[in-house]
Amino acid sequence: MLNKTMLAGAAALALLAVGIPAGAQPRAPYTTGPHNITLPSDWEQRFIRYATVDKADRKIIRHLYVNPEAFAAARAGQPLPHGSLIIMADTRARLDAAGNPLLDQQGRFIAAPGWIALAAQEKQPGWGEGYPPELRNGEWEYAAFTGTGERRNVSLNGCFTCHINTRAQQDFAFNFWDYVQTR
Ligand code: HEC
Repeated sequence: MLNKTMLAGAAALALLAVGIPAGAQPRAPYTTGPHNITLPSDWEQRFIRYATVDKADRKIIRHLYVNPEAFAAARAGQPLPHGSLIIMADTRARLDAAGNPLLDQQGRFIAAPGWIALAAQEKQPGWGEGYPPELRNGEWEYAAFTGTGERRNVSLNGCFTCHINTRAQQDFAFNFWDYVQTR
């Protein structure tokens, strides 16, 4: 005869058999789009700034950050690790009276306080499935945010096409790929 313990055991086994651990929420299936990327609330403290680029044409400075796990795991000549989250945070350059960027002792732009825009790309296993081939950037998703971290409701097709056209051989990344090759 079946007792309660045996029934509980059978139920647990049945759950294991379909791969859902008892008590866990089934994960929503992946769908393409920027909603997959969430900016961690502590990214400014925790992420590693591996590059800073002065953009003379736009009088801005791009500060490039990556999560420390990807920073440690990335290897030259290999695809960037799953879990890579690269954040590009822009600031305005401080300007002189004539409107030209002020320079520090190294000849670099000087950042005005406050982000003006954030852009992110993240790579996770299985992401990218569902994009047409002319857009798909491997397993990467893109997202755009305001300087204070609110999602911007803009088309992201340009992110995919520009990165695919220029950096498909560098795992769709720019400065982080380059940094990993030469560090
Ligand atoms: C016209 C080409 C172009 C478009 C469009 C574009 N990017 Fe980029 N992206 C670049 C370049 C070039 C860099 C390297 C940084 C630089 O020099 O400005 C870059 C760097 C990045 C980086 C840092 C990664 C790294 O390894 O340097 C992220 C994140 C990023 N872009 C996200 C986006 C997002 C999100 C969008 C769309 C909202 C977007 N990009 C649209 C060209 C583009």
